[in-house]
Amino acid sequence: MSSLFSPYDLKGITLRNRFVRSATFEGAGQPDGEVSPLQIKMYRDLAAGEVGLIVTGVVCVNETGRLFASQNCLGSDGAIPGLSRLTQAVHDEGGKVAAQLFHSGREASSFQGYRGKGPSVTDDPRRPGLVYDAMTHEDILQTVEDYGDAAGRAKEAGFDAVQMHGAHAYIFAQFLSPYTNKREDQWGGSLENRTRLHREVLKAIRKRVGEDYPVFIKLGVRDGFDGGLVLEDGLEAACMLAEAGYDCLEISQGLRGTQPHETEFRMKLKRQEDRGFFCGWAAEVKKRVQVPVVTVGGIRDLGMAEDIVQKGQADLVSMSRPLISEPGLIARWRKGDRSEARCVSCNTCKHDLEALKTISCVLDRKKAD
Ligand SMILES: Cc1cc2nc3c(=O)[nH]c(=O)nc-3n(C[C@H](O)[C@H](O)[C@H](O)COP(=O)(O)O)c2cc1C
Repeated sequence: MSSLFSPYDLKGITLRNRFVRSATFEGAGQPDGEVSPLQIKMYRDLAAGEVGLIVTGVVCVNETGRLFASQNCLGSDGAIPGLSRLTQAVHDEGGKVAAQLFHSGREASSFQGYRGKGPSVTDDPRRPGLVYDAMTHEDILQTVEDYGDAAGRAKEAGFDAVQMHGAHAYIFAQFLSPYTNKREDQWGGSLENRTRLHREVLKAIRKRVGEDYPVFIKLGVRDGFDGGLVLEDGLEAACMLAEAGYDCLEISQGLRGTQPHETEFRMKLKRQEDRGFFCGWAAEVKKRVQVPVVTVGGIRDLGMAEDIVQKGQADLVSMSRPLISEPGLIARWRKGDRSEARCVSCNTCKHDLEALKTISCVLDRKKAD
């Protein structure tokens, strides 16, 4: 059997295999952000489907970081009982689960019209209609504290780890990219300054959860368009964050461009050469850091996953859309049915979120018709 199905020790937690469910917001929380029975079922199904580590969808650390009304929020102790039921469901099925800690930064108004705050207000023709203010130094310090408190609550709720969302369009990517970060204080300018938020958050978290608790980051190492974060700086940032004490890096892209191929949601992945689209970046990070590296993006077949680990390009392999379509995919592969994921990378699941609906796979809808 493939070595991907052997247990893997990740900062003291034993995963039953090397497969990760990349963070996937499912739009299934209750209208006020409480954990819903449907969410618990979704996480139970993933764990029963033998995913090694499940990373939750975005959980905001405070109300200014909220993107969706139905999003779970670790901004107060009231969230702990609901999230404890969710972690229990995963543990009952032998799985492990990390909470993805999130702040939308300037993107808060994208879906439900909240007014956000980002590193600096810039004239950005790529994001028309965003309304937001620049964070003050005090806002940033408060946000750092909120990350620490949220991580403490995540630990209390039984999460095995926390992962910072440091990719795509959101607060860490906004601070890291010189395209969105024009600050002239200690939070902007040099790469050292543009990664300060990432490092201060880690320190605040360590104060609440201790040195042994696993703290990960999903990091965008290059923006999806020219004129933003360049790969060289992204790789350097990855090294700085590993050095600072993040225990595992999942490698994705930074700010999104306007076209699907400039985002993490690349489509039409039939050809082998279009798959594993961020794997080259993960491999570059892997050469430079000592901590485990996870690759995500367009992995659709077991052969490719095996190759990646065998060649040492990454330690763990992560997927999102295939596991929306087939929560039992990993168990299917382990049992010997190696046919590729049925996901067709059509992004209908992502469009569900844009319409403020719960995600589902279009292939199931067709079947139900
Ligand atoms: C419906 C949907 C929701 C997502 N939600 C999140 C999220 O909450 N946090 C995150 O970091 N990435 C999120 N992503 C991105 C995925 O984790 C992943 O990086 C991306 O889809 C590429 O992987 P894939 O080709 O295996 O789908 C989401 C993707 C989809 C399709």
